[in-house]
Amino acid sequence: MLNQNNQCAIYTDGGVTTFQAGASGREVRKKCRDILKEASDIHLTTENSEEFFQYGPDPGDPDFRSQLASFLTQIYKNKVHSSNLMVTTGATNGLHLISTLMFDNNSPVFVEDPTHSRTLEILEKDFGRTIIPVPRDEEGIDVEILDSLLTKFHPLADEIKPKSKFWAMVYLVPTFHNPTGTSTSPERCRQLVKVARKHKVLLFCDDVYNLLGFEDKSPAWRLFSYDEKTAENYDGNVLSNGSFSKIFSPGLRLGWIEASDYVLNLILTSGLLKGSGGLNQYTSGIMTTVLRNGHLRPHLKFIRAMLKRRIRLLTDILRKHLPPEFVFHEPKGGYYVWLQLPESLDSETILPCAEHRHTVNYRPGSSFSYAKNFKNFLRISVSFCEEESIPSCALRLCRHLEEYWKSKTEGS
Ligand SMILES: Cc1ncc(COP(=O)(O)O)c(C=O)c1O
Repeated sequence: MLNQNNQCAIYTDGGVTTFQAGASGREVRKKCRDILKEASDIHLTTENSEEFFQYGPDPGDPDFRSQLASFLTQIYKNKVHSSNLMVTTGATNGLHLISTLMFDNNSPVFVEDPTHSRTLEILEKDFGRTIIPVPRDEEGIDVEILDSLLTKFHPLADEIKPKSKFWAMVYLVPTFHNPTGTSTSPERCRQLVKVARKHKVLLFCDDVYNLLGFEDKSPAWRLFSYDEKTAENYDGNVLSNGSFSKIFSPGLRLGWIEASDYVLNLILTSGLLKGSGGLNQYTSGIMTTVLRNGHLRPHLKFIRAMLKRRIRLLTDILRKHLPPEFVFHEPKGGYYVWLQLPESLDSETILPCAEHRHTVNYRPGSSFSYAKNFKNFLRISVSFCEEESIPSCALRLCRHLEEYWKSKTEGS
C-alpha cells in the first residue's frame, strides 16, 4: 500500500519522523531490490525453473535449508544442521505455528517483562492465553523468579490437554532484545536451559536480531546452542525462531524454525503442514540463489555498519542533550535504544505533544508490558527513518522530554 510519495502508508505519519517502526529503512530495501533482481533472473532461467512454482517439500526446499544451515553455521560459529530447520513465512508465523500446534489454549505462556508487543497481542487477543510476565534485567529474564513461577503454575498442567511433551512455553527474545536492546548473559543461558529441563517447558527464542551485532569480534550466538545434545538430560527444550525480516527484508515474509527432531516432527505431521507443499517455496528458492552466491554476508555487514552508525548518531545527541535523570544503555546490536525517563513522566501521555509540536515519535514503554509497567520508558528505533534526519530528530525529542521534565520539577 503506497501513498502519493511512494512510501508505505502504514509508516508515514503526516510529516512525523518515525522512531517508532521496527522495520527496514529505504537504503536497505533498495539494496534488497537489486540483490533480488539479480537472483530472480538467475533463478528463473535455470533449467526446470517451472518447478519453483510447484508445491514443495513440507519442511521447505532441501537446497534452501542446506544453504541456510551453512550460512548460519558460519555466522554462529556453531553447527546448524539442515535437518533441524524448517521454512516459515517469518518469525510471527513461527510463533503462531508453535503456540497453536504444540500447546493447548489452556497452557500459560511465560514472557519477559518487557517484551515484543505483537507477541502479547497475538497470545492474548488471538489465542486467549494466560500470560505470566516475568521481570527482566540487563542480563535477561530473572531465572529465579521464572523457576518459582513455573513451580507455582505447574499444577495447571493437569488441566491442559497435552499436545506435546512440554506443558508450557517461555517466550524470550534473548539477543538484542526488543524493546531493551540488551542480551541474555551466558550464565543466564545456562541457568535457563537447566530450569527448562527441570520443569519440562519449551524455551521459544525469538531470534530475529541475533545477527545484528555491531562488533565483528564478538560472534553471533543463540540460546539454542546451550541446549547441548550430548547432555544426559537433553530433551530439546530450546527452539530458535529466525527470520529474514531484519537481516534482509520484511517484505519477503520468510523465516525458519531451528528445533529438535521431536519438535519438527510434531509440527510437520500436523494437519496444517503434512502434505501441505511447505511454506513460501518460491521466495525461499530465490533466497537459495542469494545465499549460494554469497550475497547475504556483505548485505548483513552493510546493515550492521549502518545500524551502528545510526545508534551512535542517536546516542551522541541523547548523552549531550538530556539531563542525567534520563538513562539508557548503549546497545551492542539490533535496532533499539530503551530510554528510562524520570519516574514522574509517562511517555504515553506526552506522545501526542511529541508528534504535534516536535514532529517526532517513539513507542511508549508500557506498550511492551503485559502488566502495563514501564510507563516512564520509551523505545527508539533507528532502523526506519532516514539517517540524515536522526540528529535533528533526536534533538527535537530531547527538547520535548526536557520541557516536560522541567514543567514537572518546576510545578512541584
Ligand atoms: C522480537 C520480534 N519477533 C518477531 C518480529 C517480526 O518478525 P517477522 O517479520 O519475521 O514476522 C519482530 C519485529 O519487530 C520482533 O521484534
